[in-house]
Amino acid sequence: PAPVSVMYVRRLKWIFFFLLVFSVITMWYVTFSSTAASERTNLMYFYEYEPVYKQRYLFTLRERSKCRDINPFLVILVSSSPKDVRSRQAIRITWGSQNFWWGHRILTLFLLGQDTQREDNAAALSVEDESVLYGDIIRQDFMDTYDNLTLKTIMGFRWVTEFCSNARFLMKTDSDVFINTPNLVKFLLKLNSSENIFTGYPLIDNFAYRGFYKKTYISYEEYPFRLYPPYCSGMGYILDGKLALRIYELMSHIKPIKFEDVYVGICLNILKVNITIPEDKEQFFLYKINFDICKYRRLIAVHGITASEIMGFWQDLSSNTSVTC
Ligand SMILES: *[C@@H]1O[C@H](CO)[C@@H](O)[C@H](O)[C@H]1NC(C)=O
Ligand SMILES: *[C@@H]1O[C@H](CO)[C@@H](O)[C@H](O)[C@H]1NC(C)=O
Ligand SMILES: *[C@@H]1O[C@H](CO)[C@@H](O)[C@H](O)[C@H]1NC(C)=O
Ligand SMILES: *[C@@H]1O[C@H](CO)[C@@H](O)[C@H](O)[C@H]1NC(C)=O
Repeated sequence: PAPVSVMYVRRLKWIFFFLLVFSVITMWYVTFSSTAASERTNLMYFYEYEPVYKQRYLFTLRERSKCRDINPFLVILVSSSPKDVRSRQAIRITWGSQNFWWGHRILTLFLLGQDTQREDNAAALSVEDESVLYGDIIRQDFMDTYDNLTLKTIMGFRWVTEFCSNARFLMKTDSDVFINTPNLVKFLLKLNSSENIFTGYPLIDNFAYRGFYKKTYISYEEYPFRLYPPYCSGMGYILDGKLALRIYELMSHIKPIKFEDVYVGICLNILKVNITIPEDKEQFFLYKINFDICKYRRLIAVHGITASEIMGFWQDLSSNTSVTC
């Protein structure tokens, strides 16, 4: 009989052989498959004349009484997931805590889907309890999953259209974003009134990723073009309230794709609205930057901040008023 070590080497050879074949196929796929994507982006591909993509999910929680009387200057909709209580609590006591800035009414609300795993944990604050306590939850009966984020955004635009169409500005953001709310309000006050304002962190000529990282992958079937239209990152985009109504109206004609920010970009493109690129490059940050009092005083939104960091940064930003930059 062959010694154990010989069999071991033989098996290793086979493993090596398979790895080789696998990597050659991978290289071939990554190199040549991009030619399958169409060079010319034609976004009318997603458009249907009839409103066949109108979503019919039901609101299971909504705060409809709020807008009618208060005429909000700015509505901030924060995409959040049911289990993310800590982030919501952090936002409620920090950048979302103040209802007014210089007499302008700000409304901060959270967008949720239905919890995928219902755990009957009596100790945990349920979403329903939160809604009763804070009255700031908007929820529909679709499953809260990463691939359903676009449904969440459509829900937000629908809520604004049906219950808050008098909002002057709308911002959509995520629960891991730190927002310098007073700066945001100042920024909006300085904008010249235009019904077509849409701004944030601009992503121009981004290409559709076809590799193996599942979170950013999109299939040719879902998006057959090489490039995305210009759009603003979903971590924080700001638009005129009237434009939000036009976008919602169009959404029922546009096939949803898995990236909500690209989806909104497609709608803007079809509406022939250009995104506005902020002049100040230090206002929107796609990735976390460490706390620096001067940088944080100047910025509007920074992504990738945990709940405890949000609380710490807000505290430092509010307390160190003597530091001059
Ligand atoms: C999105 O939500 C719907 C409705 O709850 C569900 O049927 C579907 O499986 C979800 N899709 C994904 C990709 O999670
Ligand atoms: C707003 O308009 C004023 C003049 O009406 C102009 O000086 C200013 O640059 C404009 N601001 C922006 C952000 O376009
Ligand atoms: C949008 O941008 C394009 C290209 O930069 C330009 O040709 C077009 O006039 C702009 N449209 C509006 C409405 O500003
Ligand atoms: C800001 O204040 C905190 C205490 O609230 C302190 O720890 C921190 O060093 C201060 N930062 C600056 C830049 O002064």
